[in-house]
Amino acid sequence: APGAQQFIPPQADTLDDLRAAAGGCRGCELYRDASQTVFGRGDADARVVFVGEQPGDMEDQKGLPFVGPAGRLLRRAVDDAGLDPRHIYLTNAVKHFRFELRGRRRIHQTPDRVHVTACRPWLVAEFAQLRPEVVVALGATAAKALLGPAFRVTRQRGELLPWPASAQHPEDFRRVPVDAKGTVADAPPARLLATIHPSAVLRADNQDQAYEGLVADLTVAARALD
Ligand code: URA
Ligand code: SF4
Repeated sequence: APGAQQFIPPQADTLDDLRAAAGGCRGCELYRDASQTVFGRGDADARVVFVGEQPGDMEDQKGLPFVGPAGRLLRRAVDDAGLDPRHIYLTNAVKHFRFELRGRRRIHQTPDRVHVTACRPWLVAEFAQLRPEVVVALGATAAKALLGPAFRVTRQRGELLPWPASAQHPEDFRRVPVDAKGTVADAPPARLLATIHPSAVLRADNQDQAYEGLVADLTVAARALD
């Protein structure tokens, strides 16, 4: 599989440029069966960026991430954690919906590592534009995409971690901004926090407890901002 890199225009310098280009991505097989690319959305000045797994059925139809039940729950948890839901950016590790047809129903299938790897250049390009202070990985797929396959959300959720040197983050994520006087300023180093996916809350036996756990983890991210 060729991966997404070749579909990223070298001169892309806004999220809108990236979104437009991602619409034509054929970096892996997933574009074939899905309806459309679901790129990230939200505040271009967001200090916190949330990374989910992949769009679900509803997201695939609407072309927007986190518009279904998991998204609603996530926004409520963000609010309860003390972050303003209007000032976040939401995206996914994989930008096309992977599913299996059962009759007429489209059943969610977890993306494979090849899909995550193929799609990572889009995520990296989003980080380069957004330069977030905190990145929140929602669930195992996002956490592994950023922290490597050995990472266990169950073991390290809710911990504020340094941006991993091992993650294939872009050189230009570390790109230093130049101010009006032409001096080079240090970019704020991003930190990373992994937590459970909002869908896992919806599936939990004890939903209240799972929800409180999610909010507790997101509160750690919120406190990291000031
Ligand atoms: N779950 C995800 O991981 N991402 C979405 O966009 C929606 C549901
Ligand atoms: Fe491209 Fe990612 Fe879609 Fe694969 S899943 S076609 S890499 S946008």
